[in-house]
Parts: sequence; C-alpha cells; structure tokens
Amino acid sequence: MFKIGVMASGGGSNFKAIIERIGEGDLEAQCKFLITNNGTCGAVAHAEEYGIPVYHISGKTHPEQAAYETALLEVLDRYNVDLLILAGYMKALPVSFVQRMAGRILNIHPSLLPKYGGKGFWGIHVHEAVIAAHEKESGATVHLVSEKIDQGKILAQVKVPVLEGDTPEVLAARVLEQEHNLYWKTIRDYAAQL
Ligand code: GRF
Repeated sequence: MFKIGVMASGGGSNFKAIIERIGEGDLEAQCKFLITNNGTCGAVAHAEEYGIPVYHISGKTHPEQAAYETALLEVLDRYNVDLLILAGYMKALPVSFVQRMAGRILNIHPSLLPKYGGKGFWGIHVHEAVIAAHEKESGATVHLVSEKIDQGKILAQVKVPVLEGDTPEVLAARVLEQEHNLYWKTIRDYAAQL
C-alpha cells in the first residue's frame, strides 16, 4: 500500500480532504502520520478524528536546530513513507530533510506558480497581490519541493477566475475549494507513475 505522511500548520482543510478521499477508497493510500509545528491547529483535530498519529515538532518543542532536525528525521525513519505531503505547512524544511526525501515531497500553493510564489507570498498575501495586479485568473499549483521555496517542478495546476469585486478572502475561498479536488488527484497520479 502506498504510504504517505502529511505536514500541516493550519486549518488542515487540504489534509482533511485527502484523508476523506482515502477513507472513501478514491485514493489508495495510508496516511501514517501528521507532523505539525502547531500543536493546537485544526489539522491536529482532523488527525485525532481519523486516528492518525500526531508529531508536534517545532522550535518550541525542540529549541536546538540539531535536535529539531533529528526529531523530524526520526519520524521518517519510523514510517518509511513513499511520499510526504505539505498541506499548509508554514515552516521552511531543513535541507537535510528535503535531501533525504528528494523528489518525494509535494506542496500545494494557492497561485498559478511561478507567479506569486517565493518570499512573502503566503496565505492571504498571495490573493492580495493577485487582486492588486488586476489578474483575470488565479488558481493553485501542486509542485515537488526543492531547496528553493515554491520553485520545484510543477505537477498540476487548477485555474479559477478572479471576479469583479473579489476580496482577497473571497478569492482565497474559491482557490481553496479547488485545491481540495486537485491535491488528492495529483497524489494518485504521482503514485501511479512510481
Ligand atoms: C492552502 O491555501 C495551501 O495552498 C497553502 O496553505 C493553505 C492551507 O490551507 N499552502 P488548509 O490548512 O489546508 O486549509
């Protein structure tokens, strides 16, 4: 069985969408763990609901960088997952971690990369910039994670229109809804080509 691990920091709606698709048999995979840097985030509640082990590993739990990296690598050692899924994980991954899982970490970003990616483009700031630039369309991108933020190989994208009068929040919600459909399908396609 294809094994995945998920890393998330926030509401966890993408994480939830993925574990629901697994539960319904649309995505043939097992989710072995959730790593979070925020022990009280929504993603943790979803993991608990589905009986998925949670590892809270952050600068607070592991103030020393070496101990922090070791804790992350230990989770990888324990489960030996085929693929790591970043689903709203808001902390840069250590280089050791990216190298260890090279080509096997996916991320979802709420813009049509390469536009609106990299430094400063996270959360609502992405959608603010899209609206300020009077873009006619936006969307989401699933890409491989490389050592450079938001620059790994693009695997899949979905487009949504930017409508007259959109606020960043309204646009964010339109994009997020599409992310939920895009991410699990991209994981399925990735697993199929391994
Ligand atoms: C999504 O917009 C995703 O593109 C970005 O972080 C957000 C996570 O949302 N990387 P959620 O926690 O899955 O609801």
